[in-house]
Amino acid sequence: MKELAGRVAVVTGGASGIGRGMALAFAEADMQVVIADIDEESARSVAREIEAMGGRCLPLRVDLVKAQEVEGLAEKVWSDLGGAHLLCNNAGVTTFGMMCEGIPDLDWDWVLAVNLHGVVNGLRAFLPRMRELPGEKHVVNTSSTTGVGPGVFVGPYAATKHAVLGLSETLREEGAAHGISCSALCPNNVDTGIVAADRNRQAEFGGPTGAGNEMVAAFIASGLAPERVGRMVRQAVIDDLPFIFTHADTRELVDARYQRMVESFAWADRWHEANPEP
Ligand SMILES: NC(=O)c1ccc[n+]([C@@H]2O[C@H](COP(=O)([O-])OP(=O)(O)OC[C@H]3O[C@@H](n4cnc5c(N)ncnc54)[C@H](O)[C@@H]3O)[C@@H](O)[C@H]2O)c1
Repeated sequence: MKELAGRVAVVTGGASGIGRGMALAFAEADMQVVIADIDEESARSVAREIEAMGGRCLPLRVDLVKAQEVEGLAEKVWSDLGGAHLLCNNAGVTTFGMMCEGIPDLDWDWVLAVNLHGVVNGLRAFLPRMRELPGEKHVVNTSSTTGVGPGVFVGPYAATKHAVLGLSETLREEGAAHGISCSALCPNNVDTGIVAADRNRQAEFGGPTGAGNEMVAAFIASGLAPERVGRMVRQAVIDDLPFIFTHADTRELVDARYQRMVESFAWADRWHEANPEP
């Protein structure tokens, strides 16, 4: 999507971290930004930041888990702003530190609801409307390096980030005929509020538990600045990249995974040879 200026960008989870970084970067490019976030106060604060730099931002409280609220968001964007050419399905949460079999139901439900159903709700509400808009359109779905490799002690998170990657590649194929492209954003560590994701956990998923993780906190705090990631995403949208890796050394993870797959193909070859059809 080459033309950004004057167009509308909707960023979910734009009240904090990577979403805020993207919102700022798009506003710098003279886009009108809509922040859809469950944390209304922080969304307003980012909107004030954007307005202070001469940009335009509409902050809206939306719980992405609720399909009706996401549908209401799309309705408002189309009725008030004429539609959005760029959608960033970015909000995401995680639990930490447990092996898959020990993770309670509500933890699974919460992470799947926000990270996967939140993205699905976004696509359902926005894609039919985006299709009707003239010009190039783009969707950025935030996956993770955990979407291309194993996510140890973050089972539900890993499951959703692999799912978001698959969904993004599918949308890139399906959307081409309708002028809609798609990138999967795969960050490694970025200095955001994700270790305290629990702060905005909805009551139906048990509410905030105060859970965090010191080791993960240090790793996240040593990460890239979200503003830098926002500018990378902006350029990657212009360049129409299928994958946006924030850290080039993620390649080692991808290479190692690919190598394991290649070895498995060789094993399958040997197995068929040793076990011919009767
Ligand atoms: N920070 C990292 O190192 C890192 C690495 C890889 C991927 N990611 C991904 O980046 C994305 C953004 O996370 P972040 O690191 O900026 O964290 P963050 O906690 O700083 O921001 C997440 C935002 O999502 C919002 N949110 C949570 N639940 C919501 C809901 N139900 N409805 C609407 N908004 C909701 C939060 O209020 C918050 O503003 C996530 O998808 C995350 O998985 C982050």
